[in-house]
Amino acid sequence: MARLGVNIDHVATVRQARRASEPDPVWAAALAELGGADGITIHLREDRRHIQDRDLRVLRETVTVKLNLELACDNDVLAIACQTKPDQATLVPERREEVTTEGGLEVAGAKAKVADAIRRLHDAGIVVSLFLDPDRAAIEAAKSLGADAVELHTGQYALAGPDQQAAQLAKLVEAGRHIVEHGLTLHAGHGLTYRNVQPVAHVAHMCELNIGHSIVARALMVGFQAAVREMKELVAGNDECWNPNV
Ligand code: PXP
Repeated sequence: MARLGVNIDHVATVRQARRASEPDPVWAAALAELGGADGITIHLREDRRHIQDRDLRVLRETVTVKLNLELACDNDVLAIACQTKPDQATLVPERREEVTTEGGLEVAGAKAKVADAIRRLHDAGIVVSLFLDPDRAAIEAAKSLGADAVELHTGQYALAGPDQQAAQLAKLVEAGRHIVEHGLTLHAGHGLTYRNVQPVAHVAHMCELNIGHSIVARALMVGFQAAVREMKELVAGNDECWNPNV
């Protein structure tokens, strides 16, 4: 059964639009837990466009499920991560001009940098996941660099039209098999919605889905706890469809 990590960055996006104190992502995290979230995910970006250092500090004290911190291989943010000790760190690429994380981490061209980041996080006792496109070479590099998990970038699947979605899903299935064969834990996320999440939740050995925008968007209409509960049912409520041997 896949677990649901709720990404609360966009609660902070609304707060930062006014540089105000509300809505507080700390409240959202508590409501997400009440709605059944298995994890809380935040991205401390170099430009601090949404999540702030204070959010990470307070969430580290208040979140009772897994706290997953997305971060770039940036010296300052790595230092904050090692000091704050989230349960898990997910290394992502980051460009200031992007609207959201646009592609997987380029591991091949930055092996030393990624290896150093993994080592620092491991030394702090933090589990490390790499956010990667469904690409064999990148998965093999993740293994060789000592990552614990790979989060597959589902953006291409999410953007695919009806005629392309099956092909994109097949890429995720194949990459997922490769990840598990290499002894890595399988995660996925990006662009997942209430409409497209179920086939990804049922990819064999899927352990964790990280979902943000769609949940926060629905939360505006139905409330945060209800939005998380509805997504949790889609991700986890279909046990009989999940076959770990396929
Ligand atoms: N996983 C990673 C690594 C991400 O960078 C993001 C976006 O912050 C997500 C999952 C969640 O994506 P979305 O907001 O589209 O659900």
